Amino acid sequence: MIPGEIIQQITERSDIVDIISGYTSLKRSGRSATGLCPFHNEKTPSFHVSPDKQVYHCFGCGAGGSVINFIMQAENLTFIDAVKFLGERAGINIPEDNSYDDRLTKQRQRLLEANKAAARFFYDVLLSEDGRKAREYLISRGLSSETITRFGLGFAPESWDRLTKHLKGLGFSDYEIMDSGLVTQRQDKRSYYDRFRNRVMFPIFDVRGNVIAFGGRVMDDSKPKYLNSSDTKVFDKSSNLFALNLARKSDNKVLIMVEGYMDVITLHQYGVTAAVASLGTALTENHARLLKRYADEVVLCYDSDEAGRNAAKRGLEILSSGGVKTRVITLEGAKDPDEYCKKFGVDAFLRAISGAKTPLLYKIGLLKAKYDINSPDEKVEFLNEAARELAKMYNPVEREIYIKEVCAMCDVSEKSLAANVNKAMSANKKTEERKDKNEILKDLKQRSVISGSGGMIYQNEKKLVNLMFYDYEAFRFIIENYDINEMTDAFLKEVALKILKMRENTKTDPKEIELISSFPPEEAGKIADILSFELHFENKTAGAGQIINSLNAAIRKQKLAQLGKSGDLEKIKELLEQKKQNEE
Ligand code: CTP
Ligand code: MN
Repeated sequence: MIPGEIIQQITERSDIVDIISGYTSLKRSGRSATGLCPFHNEKTPSFHVSPDKQVYHCFGCGAGGSVINFIMQAENLTFIDAVKFLGERAGINIPEDNSYDDRLTKQRQRLLEANKAAARFFYDVLLSEDGRKAREYLISRGLSSETITRFGLGFAPESWDRLTKHLKGLGFSDYEIMDSGLVTQRQDKRSYYDRFRNRVMFPIFDVRGNVIAFGGRVMDDSKPKYLNSSDTKVFDKSSNLFALNLARKSDNKVLIMVEGYMDVITLHQYGVTAAVASLGTALTENHARLLKRYADEVVLCYDSDEAGRNAAKRGLEILSSGGVKTRVITLEGAKDPDEYCKKFGVDAFLRAISGAKTPLLYKIGLLKAKYDINSPDEKVEFLNEAARELAKMYNPVEREIYIKEVCAMCDVSEKSLAANVNKAMSANKKTEERKDKNEILKDLKQRSVISGSGGMIYQNEKKLVNLMFYDYEAFRFIIENYDINEMTDAFLKEVALKILKMRENTKTDPKEIELISSFPPEEAGKIADILSFELHFENKTAGAGQIINSLNAAIRKQKLAQLGKSGDLEKIKELLEQKKQNEE
């Protein structure tokens, strides 16, 4: 990573008007310079460059950003290479260091430290007098003390602030603690309390062995059974897996995916160290990418209830489309792998794993269980459904092999099933085409809604974000009088929250480049669009107040319109009343 100060220095020495003039000729007009956009064909100039803000924006094609974004786009370079390009031009040396890939900023480093300190704390409490009940619970679940240490299990005491106080004592700031996912913020967003209380704690590690989050389980039947850390800068539950840090070290290139923390831990204790689990969410494409890196094959071994079967079916699709070779097992006679091993022994579990079914046979097995194939009618239905599944296979050789398997299952000729499969394949093709058309229609409809009544809302939200960025007083006014989390446009909200963070950490006004480079380059145009106009209010705070009023009015109007359609008279009356009061 290139240090922030150097990037700052390079952008300061690379005047945006200067640089862009090398690509298109710009004319000064007032406080900005305009010209023909170098990124799309146009006859009248809609490309604007602001020397004050050091940003560019094209109203025609939406391109925009800082001078770095311009070079990325014009020279087709990555962010780092664009910085180097500008550095060379400005005569600034970029120190070559080998930490390019180590993108851990200081902030993330601190979050990892806070999580590590918390893990240490929970572990110490577990071993202390306060942890007696939790220790007994874990032992009653069959865990040995080596297993407890190996997984770093712990206990969060029954207290609103013991962890918080502990972290503060170690020098962590309020912001760091709030960002850590270990506490719950109160409504006022300024105070907070320990998120985990009276729970057995399961630390979640990333593949490098950092503690990035926790799952906490109650020791009785109260709800929710598990609570997880909220997502943070270092934790995204949809792209991490429990125990992957351990499982990736096992020689086994076949990973076993189970549902629960407890399943993983029990399996590891039995020596099955290839077990991992997702973190209380369905499998995602990110999981698929992660698994692909560490496994040649994944065996899904979910709970044997309906929910588990459905999760396995969805998991299969995600993993297969992510290019991960996947098989599935269904455990008979126990609700989950934990119980299965305790009941039938680990050898029985391993035998089940080696008999895992390929996705198609698994699905066909599920189908077959639904029908009585001794009855001719149901057999026909089963074969029709099976044909539809087989029709999804693109590889003709595989298709043929599976057609044979299914025919053997219920004693029919391959020719007739193959004919059914072909029919299903051409039906699929037609539905696909229809789907494409529907997608396009839906998209068009959505766009017209946004540019229609949603337009007012978006424009006003955009103005608020602009003010938040450029004026400290207005910023204070806005965060005190308006709930940013209520913003309807997700991107504007994200930008607003980012500005909030930037302003919280420093008193000085934020710089455009900082904001732009804290988002992926493809968003630079949208950010430039937010920054590229100036609001001329005599008093910016009063201006912010006006905008908030029009925003609220627009939102009410939209709600009324929606309610009008739904016909909820009570609600409509209430909104009209509010409107009247506001106008008085
Ligand atoms: N989970 C969750 N939040 C809940 C319930 C479950 O995040 N309220 C996640 C946890 O990751 C849990 C997994 O879903 O490990 C599976 O849930 P479950 O089968 O209920 O838990 P087990 O880990 O099997 O725990 P136990 O054996 O103690 O019941
Ligand atoms: Mn379970």
